[in-house]
Formats: sequence, C-alpha cells, structure tokens
Amino acid sequence: MRILVTGASGLLGINLALEASRAHSVYGLVNDHPLSSAACSSAGFQVVQADLLVPGAAQRLLEQIEPDWVIHCAALANLDACEADPARAQQLNSEVPRQLALLVARSGARMLHVSTDAVFDGQQGSYSEQDLPNPVGVYSRTKLEGEWAVLAEDSSAIVARVNLFGYSLSGKRSLGEFFLYNLMAGKQVMGFTDVYFCPLLANHLAQIFLRMLALRLNGLFHVVSSECLTKYDFGMRLARLFSLPESLIQPTSVAQGGLKAARSPNLSLRTDKLTQALGAPPPSIETGLEAFYQLYQQGYPAKIRQFSEQ
Ligand SMILES: NC(=O)c1ccc[n+]([C@@H]2O[C@H](COP(=O)([O-])OP(=O)(O)OC[C@H]3O[C@@H](n4cnc5c(N)ncnc54)[C@H](OP(=O)(O)O)[C@@H]3O)[C@@H](O)[C@H]2O)c1
Repeated sequence: MRILVTGASGLLGINLALEASRAHSVYGLVNDHPLSSAACSSAGFQVVQADLLVPGAAQRLLEQIEPDWVIHCAALANLDACEADPARAQQLNSEVPRQLALLVARSGARMLHVSTDAVFDGQQGSYSEQDLPNPVGVYSRTKLEGEWAVLAEDSSAIVARVNLFGYSLSGKRSLGEFFLYNLMAGKQVMGFTDVYFCPLLANHLAQIFLRMLALRLNGLFHVVSSECLTKYDFGMRLARLFSLPESLIQPTSVAQGGLKAARSPNLSLRTDKLTQALGAPPPSIETGLEAFYQLYQQGYPAKIRQFSEQ
C-alpha cells in the first residue's frame, strides 16, 4: 500500500512511519520539523513537507502522493498551546481533518483519523464508544469536533481514540520518556495517583492501525491498552523494569500538580469493540512496558533521535 502518514515528526507519526515502512511505501509528512533524509531513506520511507493550514496544501499532497491509506496523526496536541490559541486548535484539530476526510473520500483512498481519550470528562471511567463525550478544554473540544467532521465527510473512515507512550525525536514527548530520563538523571518527579489512563506503546498502536486498515474497519474505535492504571503506577512499573529508584516518584494528587490546562481524572476506556474486530485484545501495560524496555536495550531511542539530525 502507499501510505501517507501526517505528523511524521511527532511521537506517534515517527514510530508509525517506521513500523509501516517494513511492509508498505510510506510518505511521512512534516511541517516545522524537517527529518534527516539520510535517516528516512535508510529507514525506507520518504519525507514530504507541507503546512496543512495553507489552503490547497492537502489537495496538492494527495494529488502528488496518490495514497491508498492516509493516517492522520498531525494535530495541535499540546494542551497549553490549545488553550493559548483556540483558533489555531480549531483549525488544526477540527477543520484540517474535515478537509482531509473530504478529499480522501473523493479520491477513493481510506482514512484513519487519530483522536484522543480526552474527549471524555473522566468523571465516570470505563467508557465505551457509545458513551457521551464531554470535553473539558480546548484541545479535547476541538478533537471531538474533528471526529464528528471526519465521520460526516467520510463514512468509511476509522476514527481511533488513543493514548500512547514511546520514544520521540525530542526525547520529551511521552510520559514514558518523562519517567525514564528523569529517574536516570536521579531527579525526583511527581506521579499522579488520581489520574487513570490506558496507554499503548506507539509501536503497538501503529501495528494495530495497519491491521484495522487491512481489515477495512470503519467508524469509531477505542484503541488503547486492555489495561488501565494511574500515572503513578505507570511510573513505578517502569522504574522497576529499568531498575531505577522507585523512591524518586512522589505520589501526588493532580490538584497539587500545578498544571495549567484541566485534565480528566479517569480516562479508562473499554476496548471490547476493537477486541471483537481484531479477534484479540490490544496489548496489556506489562506487554507495552516490556517492549519499551526491549527497544531501549536495542538502541531504538538513539535511532529515533537520528531523524532530527540534519
Ligand atoms: N501524545 C499523546 O499522549 C496523545 C494522547 C492522545 C491522543 N493523541 C493524538 O495522537 C496524535 C499524534 O499525537 P503526537 O503526540 O504524536 O503529536 P505531536 O508529537 O505533538 O506531533 C504533532 C505533529 O503534527 C504536525 N503538525 C502540526 N501542525 C501542522 C501543520 N500546520 N501542518 C502539518 N503538520 C502539522 C507536527 O509537525 P511539525 O512538528 O513538523 O510541525 C507534528 O509532526 C494527535 O492527533 C493527538 O491528538 C496523542
């Protein structure tokens, strides 16, 4: 398949481009953060540059690449940046997905749009795809509007609500990296004991996306780990696996965390629909963390960082 991965310089996009290029022709779209072309060609994918906010950019891209599948990871995914510039968040998280879905549907290609667990307010937990979202901030509101827009323009699209961790270009984009590198540096960190999530390793998430597209699924899916836990427990399990000092993780309530944008406390999501569609549950936290550890042992973080070297 010819696959266009938007957001290829981001946490999800770079890992997805790498996973997908093992079996497919992959084109990774970046905007402000060019990727090293040497690293891309040795990894087997091509990099293209475009600002999706420029009128006509998405159309030109689709005409140039003629993809079979478009996996749309690009977004304004920083919560504080969304609060600071709601108009930009609206454009990137709602209008760009709408435009892309319209163009992809017209071209006959198939689209997987990446959304977020944060469309829920986190008061209930154990959410299924039937539960009513109630976004608590600009990021989650604009992402929810993006979901609606994609499904309205392209009924064959997949909308995947995700949460993830993994290795990024900056080494700072995921909670896994936050715990790993701070604990390695001997720094004390907060671990929230009252915020639940179900993160999948970005590489596992990428493999699941490819299966969902190959199976020609469509509609809304929760694509998270089969297991949920607090951010504190996640840090503790990571510390044990890497033999790092667990005592550096301070159990903290999110109310004491000093975060600017509001967080939903219980983002545990049900994955029954995905499990049924795939014939197997998505990986557990233990499986994800074990693979995160193995990737570290294999030098994968350094391989990822090479993409940002010019
Ligand atoms: N990270 C998480 O824990 C998490 C949790 C739930 C859902 N998600 C969702 O997962 C998806 C991927 O998130 P992520 O963490 O990988 O994001 P990220 O690391 O913040 O990367 C965002 C990507 O979007 C691209 N982008 C931003 N503005 C653009 C524009 N105007 N034109 C073209 N590309 C643009 C960026 O390109 P440049 O850097 O080159 O400008 C970058 O590659 C998003 O849809 C996000 O909402 C993420």
